[in-house]
Amino acid sequence: MFRTKINGIGRHLPDNIVTNYDLEKIMDTTHDWIVQRTGIEQRHWVKNREGTSDLAVIAAKQAIENSSIEAKDIDMIIFATITPDYFFPGSGCLLQEKLGLDTIPAMDIKQQCTGFVYGMATADQFIRSGMYKNILLIGAEVHSKALDKTTRGRDISVLFGDGAGAMILSATNKDDPTCILSSHLHSEGKFAKELWTEAPGMGMDDEEFMSYDILEQGKHRPYMNGKRVYVHAIKRMCEGIIESLEFNKLKLEDIDLFFFHQANLRINTAVAEKLNIPEEKVFNTIQKYGNTTAATIPIGMHDAIEAGVLKPGMLVATSAFGSGFTWGSSLFRY
Ligand code: UT7
Repeated sequence: MFRTKINGIGRHLPDNIVTNYDLEKIMDTTHDWIVQRTGIEQRHWVKNREGTSDLAVIAAKQAIENSSIEAKDIDMIIFATITPDYFFPGSGCLLQEKLGLDTIPAMDIKQQCTGFVYGMATADQFIRSGMYKNILLIGAEVHSKALDKTTRGRDISVLFGDGAGAMILSATNKDDPTCILSSHLHSEGKFAKELWTEAPGMGMDDEEFMSYDILEQGKHRPYMNGKRVYVHAIKRMCEGIIESLEFNKLKLEDIDLFFFHQANLRINTAVAEKLNIPEEKVFNTIQKYGNTTAATIPIGMHDAIEAGVLKPGMLVATSAFGSGFTWGSSLFRY
């Protein structure tokens, strides 16, 4: 029986920084509104032809460099994204080719803002079973190309950023304390339409999956019932932490650091307040990057390592919530 340890983390943000003041020039919004409601000050948006796997390959190479393995040792790619390069095939296959990784399996998962937590749980199962030893897990998003950057889309477009995070997960022996201790995953499809992009898709009533009507109505742009998502995010992210603690028979005080999904600074402050978590134990990055969906947690972990906040041996809890609705939590010793 094996356990799974985090063996290297990398991240990449596109060079192009878009501040709230830049957004003021293209839509009816203000820096103050965005900061007060979300905490976001800027985000990175790709320029020109950069795609999701282009960001991922840079993050992946960095994660490999920060790990004890070489690219040739990777047995599998798991790629979490809701903004893949193409409708199909999945971005995992494109990344495999960009890394020159021969014929290893590549699997995309689409679990929105909970994508990385689902990905860690999936990788953990492949490794625990002994099927694979080293898995490259990616969370990468290019939201900017799909956002409505006019006033019509301002409630969503100011929130999202592009970026990629990568993690090498490797097998370790069952007595190694630095390993993934638990994952808890959930979904509630009755809220699927509260945060979604309806088109293009085969669930549409139309005969064609794309039409001028769809474009005109903006159905190819993300829609969100912000208030409903907000309330559920706080509730479910709190539950995720409690579920992890109870499962591992731990107390809140035992956790050294928390990584919450970064959708809104107010959500994370509310979760911390409800659970009585001291501010210094929560690592937030939303101010600089906005919501990077599946990339959020590895980007945060990378930055926390660089800042000297996340140190080897620390007990870490993550909790994420997103479209689906989906939510999940993981607990690990780094
Ligand atoms: O990653 C997946 C999870 N996503 C989330 O967790 C997001 C959850 N939701 C939220 O974070 C918040 O609901 C938002 C930040 C999206 C919105 O905050 P809010 O406090 O719920 O604002 P609101 O939607 O009630 O809008 C308040 C006002 C409205 O104007 P009126 O009707 O009061 O005149 C909006 O039209 O703010 C207006 N507004 C804006 N004003 C300036 C909406 N977006 C903007 C904007 N700039 N970008």
